[in-house]
Amino acid sequence: MNGTTADTETRSGSGSDELVFFVNGKKIVERNADPETSLLTYLRRKLGLTGTKLGCAEGGCGACTVMLSRYQTHTQQLLHFAVNACLAPLCSLHLVAVTTVEGIGSVARKLHPVQERIARAHGSQCGFCTPGIVMSMYALLRNNTTPNMADVEEAFQGNLCRCTGYRPILEGYKTFTVEGGCCGGRGRDNGCCMVNGSGAEESSEEVIDESTSLFNAADFTPFDPTQEVIFPPELMSLTKGERSASLCFRGDRATWLQPDSLDEFLRLKWKHPEARVVVGNTEVGIEVKFKNMVYPVILAPAFIPELNEVRHTEDGVVFGAACTLSHMGAVLRQEVETLPPHRTEVFLAILEQLRWFAGLQIRNVAAVGGNIMTASPISDLNPVFMATGCKLTLFDKDGSRVVRMDESFFTGYRRTTVRPQEVLVSIEIPYSKKNQFVSAFKQSPRREDDISIVTAAMSVTFHPGTDTVEDLRLSYGGMAATTTLATQTEKKLLGRRWGEELLQDACSSLAEELTLDPSAPGGMVTYRRTLTLSLFYKFYLTVLQKLRDQGVKAEEVRSDCQSAADVFHPETPSSVQVYQAVPEGRGQDDVVGRPIMHLSALKQATGEAVYCDDVPLYENELYLSLITSSRAHAHILSIDTSAAESMPGVVCCVFADDIPGSNATGPVQYDETILADRQVTCVGHIIGAVVADTQLHAQRAAKAVRIQYEELQPVVTIQEAIAAQSFYQPIRTLQNGDLEAGFKQADHILEGEMHMGGQEHFYLETNVTLAVPRGEDGEMELFVSTQSASKTQSLVAKALGVPANRVVVRVKRMGGGFGGKETRTTVLSTVVAVAANKLKRPVRCMLDRDEDMLVTGGRHPFFGKYKVGFLNSGKVVALDVSYYSNAGNSMDLSLSVMERALFHMENSYSVANVRGRGFLCRTNLPSNTAFRGFGGPQGMMVAESWMTDVAQSLGRPTDEVRRLNLYVEGDSTPYNQILNQFTLDRCWDECLSRSGYQQCRAAVDLYNRQNRWTKRGLAIVPTKFGISFTALFLNQAGALVHIYTDGSVLLTHGGTEMGQGLHTKMVQVASRVLGIPCSKIHISETSTNTVPNTSPTAASASSDLNGAAVQNACEILEKRLEPYKTQNPKGSWEDWVRAAYFDRVNLSANGFYKTPDLGYDFDSNSGRAFNYFTYGVACSEVEIDCLTGARKNLSSTIVMDVGHSLNPAIDIGQVEGAFVQGLGLFTMEELHYSPQGVLLTRGPGSYKIPGFGDIPTRLTVSLLRDAPNDKAIFSSKAVGEPPLFLAAANFYAIKDAITAARGESGISGPFRLDSPASTERIRNACSDRFTKLCPPAEPGTFSPWSVQV
Ligand SMILES: Cc1cc2nc3c(=O)[nH]c(=O)nc-3n(C[C@H](O)[C@H](O)[C@H](O)COP(=O)(O)OP(=O)(O)OC[C@H]3O[C@@H](n4cnc5c(N)ncnc54)[C@H](O)[C@@H]3O)c2cc1C
Ligand code: FES
Ligand code: FES
Repeated sequence: MNGTTADTETRSGSGSDELVFFVNGKKIVERNADPETSLLTYLRRKLGLTGTKLGCAEGGCGACTVMLSRYQTHTQQLLHFAVNACLAPLCSLHLVAVTTVEGIGSVARKLHPVQERIARAHGSQCGFCTPGIVMSMYALLRNNTTPNMADVEEAFQGNLCRCTGYRPILEGYKTFTVEGGCCGGRGRDNGCCMVNGSGAEESSEEVIDESTSLFNAADFTPFDPTQEVIFPPELMSLTKGERSASLCFRGDRATWLQPDSLDEFLRLKWKHPEARVVVGNTEVGIEVKFKNMVYPVILAPAFIPELNEVRHTEDGVVFGAACTLSHMGAVLRQEVETLPPHRTEVFLAILEQLRWFAGLQIRNVAAVGGNIMTASPISDLNPVFMATGCKLTLFDKDGSRVVRMDESFFTGYRRTTVRPQEVLVSIEIPYSKKNQFVSAFKQSPRREDDISIVTAAMSVTFHPGTDTVEDLRLSYGGMAATTTLATQTEKKLLGRRWGEELLQDACSSLAEELTLDPSAPGGMVTYRRTLTLSLFYKFYLTVLQKLRDQGVKAEEVRSDCQSAADVFHPETPSSVQVYQAVPEGRGQDDVVGRPIMHLSALKQATGEAVYCDDVPLYENELYLSLITSSRAHAHILSIDTSAAESMPGVVCCVFADDIPGSNATGPVQYDETILADRQVTCVGHIIGAVVADTQLHAQRAAKAVRIQYEELQPVVTIQEAIAAQSFYQPIRTLQNGDLEAGFKQADHILEGEMHMGGQEHFYLETNVTLAVPRGEDGEMELFVSTQSASKTQSLVAKALGVPANRVVVRVKRMGGGFGGKETRTTVLSTVVAVAANKLKRPVRCMLDRDEDMLVTGGRHPFFGKYKVGFLNSGKVVALDVSYYSNAGNSMDLSLSVMERALFHMENSYSVANVRGRGFLCRTNLPSNTAFRGFGGPQGMMVAESWMTDVAQSLGRPTDEVRRLNLYVEGDSTPYNQILNQFTLDRCWDECLSRSGYQQCRAAVDLYNRQNRWTKRGLAIVPTKFGISFTALFLNQAGALVHIYTDGSVLLTHGGTEMGQGLHTKMVQVASRVLGIPCSKIHISETSTNTVPNTSPTAASASSDLNGAAVQNACEILEKRLEPYKTQNPKGSWEDWVRAAYFDRVNLSANGFYKTPDLGYDFDSNSGRAFNYFTYGVACSEVEIDCLTGARKNLSSTIVMDVGHSLNPAIDIGQVEGAFVQGLGLFTMEELHYSPQGVLLTRGPGSYKIPGFGDIPTRLTVSLLRDAPNDKAIFSSKAVGEPPLFLAAANFYAIKDAITAARGESGISGPFRLDSPASTERIRNACSDRFTKLCPPAEPGTFSPWSVQV
């Protein structure tokens, strides 16, 4: 290899070159590098390095983050950078050192401080995101050993976590920063600078047993950057000795050609005009993976000097087309620091766009040329390049030409004037001129790492010393099939003075020029049109201000409008966590009530924790890929598998006929099929599967299966279901009091409606099953990521036609569940089991993110209609509410979800006369299912809507009206449950005082008076969450405890670990009862052959139920050991165990628990529905940008009653994680469906869960003190689901802010705001002069891109 500059293509002949790279210091020489293999697949499958995780395969979650290091010969510098291994082509790694999470430390060897600190700071729950976050932080520290918090936040822009709510990760890593730097334990005795745990503010109240410390930084291993792994010396010499970087790799379908000179590149492009040029692969990788594109020839020019150079010319800076965005950013920042401000307006605009461009892992590899040449209509850089007239140098074999990026450059959707044989070599970015002002804007659903809804860049040049426009460029993305210039408007404004008149004309002209078809792809048509004006207005204000700053006589910017032009700058979050410490004098050995770390956290941080897909491959293992329906409702006419079956590696297809047992399945009713039988009822309905030797082969073949359908009319939305009366039975009613009398008594009656969108679970680990036939008696062993081992066991047994005793289901841990793995996991595991049974070989399938989102359903969308009667005082006296949920194509758990919504329809308010009805809409969407809160949040959300309406219609403060209606001790709920040990009023009062509600209210009102275009809002919201499964029989649990003769204890219970810390809490319980340290107790897994007939790990009740079962088992053992303790009181635990053993005592015990006194009956409205309630209150303050709908979560204060916490770190982790998940639900996450029922949002690129930057800037969580709960283990309370709803405080704070904005336009009184309060909804609700110019199209006159389901 490494010949010369010869033609690599011809030189290689039939073979390929060698790829040489290093992984964790080990040299790898790969002779068969496939151009379509990603680094991630190679690490996991070929090298067995499973610490690096697959979360999305599209660069959107960061779970696959690794660090690459390269020696740059021309600068003689080492470059370390974080990348997404899922998008990094293996072939691009020649002479690169790869560092994975395994390479920096391990529990067995030595932990790296980056691994240790995230774990000890409680920043790892399910742990699936943890290796990626660890590697992002590690890469940052390799480049900057003393980062500040802003650097840390930037490093995490491309990482997602669905469990923790991010706060603990930031707190843990703050200890590496200049702001939070700590002595690293060196000053332990003298008092570490971080000895107060998180370094958080002290609580204002002096309470002796109150703690604000969840970890002690003094325990951390010091960080010593000199100890880092060195760059492999051999790689250094190989790189220095490399004469040519020309390479050729041939795969099954593609050839990778890496030229090392521009000439060679041009010659190859001439020869292969159809070849795809790949630099960062962040665009091409997505096309290959998700758009089924095949590119037989790939040209990789990343090492060609001309494409990497940065040159300064008289007019600007020239960047080679392969320069990464990170590099470009660094160069431009340098320019801004050194040049006079008037020359860097363009650079600043680019830097502003880069700040919100993807995440760092993407920017580290994505090239500027790639962004231009992709020609995406929502590119963030192209508008700036166009508005400022950047020049492109294009080359082909015969020479070069320079083109200006103007309105003629983009010729159509993803098309440019660049000819097929040409390549882009460089781009010149101009210096700005005197009197020129440039701004760039990006509006997206989430600020960080999100694609734009509308993106824009504007440049204006004035005649010197005046406010008269000499030149104007207004460039927009997201408003047409290409990035576009508003040329007509530009022309109209030339020669005009920059003032109010120009503004008005510009807006009318833009509204006319930038129109969109109401059916335009991407939807949000009214919003996008309004944004074009709003963004122009921001530019207008910014320029006015700059003109005045330069002394030009221009119109004054009104002081209340100034904040409209402010550029968003994130503030570093701060937080306080408060809990009651264990009483003084309690022995250190008693770990109950102490904030001990999740027992798997360290392993999770090092990548040693084994998840289902990390189980090593069996020798004869096969891979399965699903064949799913592309129609929402249809008869299947024919299935043609011939093409699929002839593809490489394919073993067979599996259809309904292959099911030896019953095809009927379902968690409650058997109203589903495992594999579709002649009819499909949703897009994503599983029809069959392809089994092949590898994942890639199975997936390719599944896509080649041809299915013919006869389409039937689908029912997609709740409104369509209502119109068609398409409901599942029964329709539940919960009624109390005398509704008629209640409404008669009322001084006022008002009616309202609210729709709440659904939610994707987005557990970082998608559904996965490995089924291993045991070869005799129909036995099968399954490794499944499921919350419900027993349900999986019974449904697999039913499918295979064997008794349940032949099926063992094992669950080690899940990478998140949130209810999504309670029942819907069986849609995959039954299919995999059927395939394994058919082939008598192990079969595995881990769904890709898009498949998982498509087939598994999520939280039920709800529509609520209410009529509420209330007195002049604000006291609600009558409520009639109807809930409609979109249940999807099967019943699943929808009835129980609806029942919980009804049980929470009054939230925390006493309403004497009430009726709630629940309708389950049968639609052609994938069956919706359990999701943290299980209908409770939907029920309460509607309650808060009518409560807000009541306050607004009376013109009274919402907090007063809420407080007036709040339950008190001894009140009875609509289902006749008396509220005892009621602590909600205490939570409320503490929340008011901790948040400084009254002062905050005054400050918000003042702010709103002083600002026209940004508004603040404040809301305080309570929750009361009933704890118990509503299905009585599920309220039971079992445990099995073995004590071995060496004194070690193996604990098994019915619950599964999905990050919520259940196993940790169970070990704490066993530790207290047995009186031994946690280190002697081990939980290996949850399995159906140890504890049978388990309830799903759900309903927040798993600690209560399993904890009591564990307690029961341990008490039995403790009793058996008692005589030996009495005989030998000074002996050790091991002595007693040994003595008992030799005395032939059974050292194994079962425990069992069932919740007493439960059993509600809907017909008679009697019996206890819940064992007890968990209470909480949150107060949130937000700020909205009325012009764009963007929001900032300024502060949240949460007070939660979790009884006597078993583990405050875990409980606070649950509160924060649930709250941030609720923030997603209520303010951000939107699933879009086409009118035909096709899910349009199928991955992190289009479905946005909260990121690091979305958490409240100030977050306080306080666990209510002195609140023992006599109904659960050791006086604790359930915590998993209840806090989620508290994020409704942010939704209602947003509504409060919108109310203030509407007030500016003279609009007052109640108004409908559906959930989530997305940027689009916020902007559209802030009715003003700009929205009036963009009226929405008449509903019914067009087919929208997406519908509200
Ligand atoms: C998670 C994620 C987030 C993203 N976020 C954003 C965002 O916020 N804003 C945004 O605008 N984009 C975003 N993108 C899109 C993408 O990252 C950018 O367009 C990026 O700049 C592409 O660069 P690349 O080097 O990775 O391109 P590649 O995938 O390597 O190539 C892209 C295209 O450009 C062509 N090409 C590349 N170089 C040349 C050349 N020298 N001559 C001729 N043709 C060439 C290729 O043939 C190919 O068609 C995102 C992508 C991902 C995966
Ligand atoms: S798996 Fe690579 S970013 Fe999600
Ligand atoms: S701990 Fe981050 S996704 Fe679970």
